[in-house]
Amino acid sequence: MNRRLIHILAVAAVSAVFGGCATTPSEESLPVLIPQPQEVNWTRGSYRLPAELRIGLSDPQLAPQGDYLSTALAPYAAAVVSDTPQGDIELCLDPTLASEGYRLSAAKSGVRIEGGSPRGVVNGIATLRQLLPAGEGAEGVIPCVEVSDEPAFGWRGVMLDVSRHFFDKEEICSMLDQMARLKLNKFHWHLTDDQGWRIEIKSYPDLAGKGGWRHYNKHDTICLGRAARERNDDFLLPEKYLRVEGTDTLYGGYYTQDEIREVVAYATERGIDVIPEIDMPGHFLQAIEYYPETTCFKPETWSGEAFSSPLCLGKDEVLVFCENIWKEVFELFPYEYVHIGGDEVNMKNWNKCPRCQARMRQEGLADGHALQAWFTHRMQRFFEANDRRMIGWDELLQGEVDSAATIMWWRPWVPESVSQATRLGCDVILCPQTWFYFSLEEDAGSLKRTCNYELVPDSLPAAQQDRILGVQGNVWAEKVPSWSRVEYLFYPRLLIVAEKGWCAPAQVSERDLMPRLLRYCERLDAEGVNYRIPSLENFHEFCVFTDSIRSTVTCPLPGAILRYTLDGSVPTVSSPLYTGPITFHDDALLQVRAFHPDGRTGDWVKIRYEKCDFAAPTEVGATKPGLQTEWFFKRFPKCDAVGGARADGQCVVDSVQFPKVAQGRRATGIIFRGYINVPEDRIYTFELASNDGSLLRIDGRVVIDNDGEHTLVEKTGQAALSAGLHPLELRYFDYNGGRVTLALVDDEGRRIPMGDEWFCHAAEDAE
Ligand code: ACM
Ligand code: ZN
Repeated sequence: MNRRLIHILAVAAVSAVFGGCATTPSEESLPVLIPQPQEVNWTRGSYRLPAELRIGLSDPQLAPQGDYLSTALAPYAAAVVSDTPQGDIELCLDPTLASEGYRLSAAKSGVRIEGGSPRGVVNGIATLRQLLPAGEGAEGVIPCVEVSDEPAFGWRGVMLDVSRHFFDKEEICSMLDQMARLKLNKFHWHLTDDQGWRIEIKSYPDLAGKGGWRHYNKHDTICLGRAARERNDDFLLPEKYLRVEGTDTLYGGYYTQDEIREVVAYATERGIDVIPEIDMPGHFLQAIEYYPETTCFKPETWSGEAFSSPLCLGKDEVLVFCENIWKEVFELFPYEYVHIGGDEVNMKNWNKCPRCQARMRQEGLADGHALQAWFTHRMQRFFEANDRRMIGWDELLQGEVDSAATIMWWRPWVPESVSQATRLGCDVILCPQTWFYFSLEEDAGSLKRTCNYELVPDSLPAAQQDRILGVQGNVWAEKVPSWSRVEYLFYPRLLIVAEKGWCAPAQVSERDLMPRLLRYCERLDAEGVNYRIPSLENFHEFCVFTDSIRSTVTCPLPGAILRYTLDGSVPTVSSPLYTGPITFHDDALLQVRAFHPDGRTGDWVKIRYEKCDFAAPTEVGATKPGLQTEWFFKRFPKCDAVGGARADGQCVVDSVQFPKVAQGRRATGIIFRGYINVPEDRIYTFELASNDGSLLRIDGRVVIDNDGEHTLVEKTGQAALSAGLHPLELRYFDYNGGRVTLALVDDEGRRIPMGDEWFCHAAEDAE
């Protein structure tokens, strides 16, 4: 059934429920469901949960689901699980339904949930939980409804890195419970990395016993700096993870094997599979430090860079070491999939190490990629001998890949990974960084971009499309020291993952989802989840005016509290309330920040207002169309650093974009120069979107400062220009991303691409 029909039925049904009333309640009075079920028919009346409630089970194998439901209902009723099928709420199996599918029928007399399997029943329970009102003291009353539902994708995942910062068992379980409410069914647990080993391995006790603890590092310094600068305690390192030993302070923790079993059991009850990732052969430094014989040369200490020295793959003992670790991991994690990592391997040592070189000669391996592939195949055979299936990051495609491997695609700058992997017969899980790495902070456009991301491109042949298992949202924890910060990054973006993973791609729409997402935030409030207040809207980062100007900023979330400053300081919970437009007659810096009613902070925006005259045009001789563009293959930290004695290439472009001929490097800096040709005297609004930094100057003045290493961020700024030519310079640098665009924004906020009619350069300039 399509969305529109659901909507009409919903409104009609509410009218039916409140049939005698003079006014028809709006759709807002119905519970918000995320993900949107396939079919929902609201019917007349409501069901009130009795204070003492019986859960009936049609099949004894549903006992764990009965227990889970009784726990979930605890705020509303004292529920007992009966050993008969009859109950106020009945859980049943119907093998004619899809395995994860369910039917939920809530009538005035009770509720019945039928699932295609116990997993289907769990999904029905998730819907029931969303039908119930949230919040302390909320009444256990739900509207009568018939829901028939099943997911579009089998993989609806969440990845959390617990290596860079540690989060304890209780925190992980709170995440699992939220996942279950959203029908997210895979928890990918990144348990080991350069900065921490978090899983007890009994045959190598120092891995966790020592490798679970570390000294403060450069990321901690960044976090503490942000805590102070941004007045945000979420960046403080929780005291519970500090261990003082004499004069030494260590930081960290690890999960005992018993704790891992508890987490896995908690997840299983909620229909969630847990996928352990033991990243190898790179990202292994914390293990190498305590077992130095596993690497090629004397181990280094972590330098703060992503690529550390890997395991020595020339030593047979290393293979045994890895297998012994995995043997214990298999004992703890019953799910068939395990994750070997395989990303970002620094292969330099392998080219110098006599043992690695001997291995390469002996096995006929041409280079480091082939050596990694050899190791991965060996581990994969070991996994398969233990009835496990291997997942790895898409770097595995740099070597030969076995079609039984599942590829997790994270690198948007290697877009061919998906077609390459599926063509080889590999299954693929999607978590491309720009859209699904939630450790990358949000900007004003990120919710919409993630919502509109095309999971299954039409260009992929149908047989290959079937290999896309689903989608996942990831948080890497380098700069995420507290659980509160974890939640801030995951929510509300995880609601989008839930919707995209459950609904068929054609059914997911920003227009339909965004209002539900905002309403779902009320539930997150009631459940104490520290979600990010969606971005403030209706402003440009830089506004110009000739006489006076009124601020326009608004917050999409009803109930959020806005506070502001004008003195350059960060708004805090004691700053003045922003209750509506402020009029400026002179230059000003307005900073507005959103707060939850309980004082928890959100992000804030800085809006620069500048009083100015229209800039006069520049006299230029003969011109040619387009902007002169030169690029440099180097990693730059800032836009103004881009340059060098000799450019690596140059060309003329019609519009601002990453020139095709300059693509393919991991790090590049680009400078676009020329003139913008404006048709009339006006205040022009520009939008500059880039991944990473970009900086737009017109007439030598900064119009948009979108500088710094970041994922895709869109910023807008204005310039008051008289008709004619104005010098334009746009600087950009990229480190993993490769996107820069410049557009005009019209008075209605619509984006208008800028083509060749807008740009030119002086004819005598060299090209
Ligand atoms: C990754 O983000 N290095 C998988
Ligand atoms: Zn070696």
